[in-house]
Amino acid sequence: MDAKQEKLNRLAQPLLDWYARNRRPLPWREEVSPYRTWVSEIMLQQTRVSAVIPYFQRFLAAFPTVEALAGADEAQLLKLWEGLGYYSRARNLQKTAKIITETYHGQFPHTYDELIALPGIGDYTAGAVLSIAFHQPVPAVDGNVLRVAARITGDEGNVLDGKVRAAFRRRMAQAMPAKHCGAFNQALMDLGAAVCLPNGTPLCEECPAADFCDAYATNRQKVLPVRQKNTARRVERKTVFLLRRGEEIALRQRPAAGLLAGLWEYPHTEGMLDESGAAAQLAQWDIVPHKWVKSIRFKHEFTHIRWEMVGYVLETEGNGPTDWVWADRKERQRYAIPSAFEKLTREWEER
Ligand code: ADE
Repeated sequence: MDAKQEKLNRLAQPLLDWYARNRRPLPWREEVSPYRTWVSEIMLQQTRVSAVIPYFQRFLAAFPTVEALAGADEAQLLKLWEGLGYYSRARNLQKTAKIITETYHGQFPHTYDELIALPGIGDYTAGAVLSIAFHQPVPAVDGNVLRVAARITGDEGNVLDGKVRAAFRRRMAQAMPAKHCGAFNQALMDLGAAVCLPNGTPLCEECPAADFCDAYATNRQKVLPVRQKNTARRVERKTVFLLRRGEEIALRQRPAAGLLAGLWEYPHTEGMLDESGAAAQLAQWDIVPHKWVKSIRFKHEFTHIRWEMVGYVLETEGNGPTDWVWADRKERQRYAIPSAFEKLTREWEER
């Protein structure tokens, strides 16, 4: 088992102890049913706990059962939702209430697959209902829980990436206790809301995970979790040459301004050229190819640009343009070559 999973696995007991002392008495916790859990979790999406409480109480008074909700007058339903926002949540609640009443005869389904097939119920809500109302060890991973998990494990994966979130869910599923799974999930939510605060001001001294939290130990609370927006990057395609001449390779300096200013690079040209296009470029530079050693494809992501590159490794002869330098292994140490070219640099270093 890896170190990250080990840290997460240490969480359950101290967290449950902490929860026993600190749990917030909330109306959907004092009396638990699948219906109440579901309604509260839908209301709590994108809405603070304190704002939800009065809405929850009015809603349950008006529609005490799933059948009552299924038969509700839409105007009354929307009136009860007024101020909570995201009205599609209310409409989906009623759609799902009708399905449960008609297809499931009023009995809440209690498998993951049946639940996520219902309108408005996604992975998080399915996990919350299954764990809180049906005592099944299924994680309920929302933004708060991702923050707690990323900090404890020190994982720098981008939590806005679906694959990364899925990996956190798998880890959390392994870290869950077999018993008290509803308490475990709600304790995580409370910890995220009250202790493991976002924006760099968590109350680590009060945290039951402080002894083994990676972010606390390495003072990375501010940088974890990593939330990197998927900025659509402009793609640039390039053909890069690792030109060998005996023990030397060709380098040239980048312009003094702009991307990677002043750093040194392998000669390259715009576009992904095939061998004949690459040969034509070499001829323009007055470089004579003796042997085409290999070609590799690689890419590099900058903040706003993505380079997609084909690299050719060649044995050559000639000097090339006057601004090139030919460096052997020792001289090469003097030139800073950006990591965008790392894959080609390795071809040189590993030789
Ligand atoms: N946020 C989302 N679900 C919650 C719950 N069950 N208790 C407290 N906060 C929550």
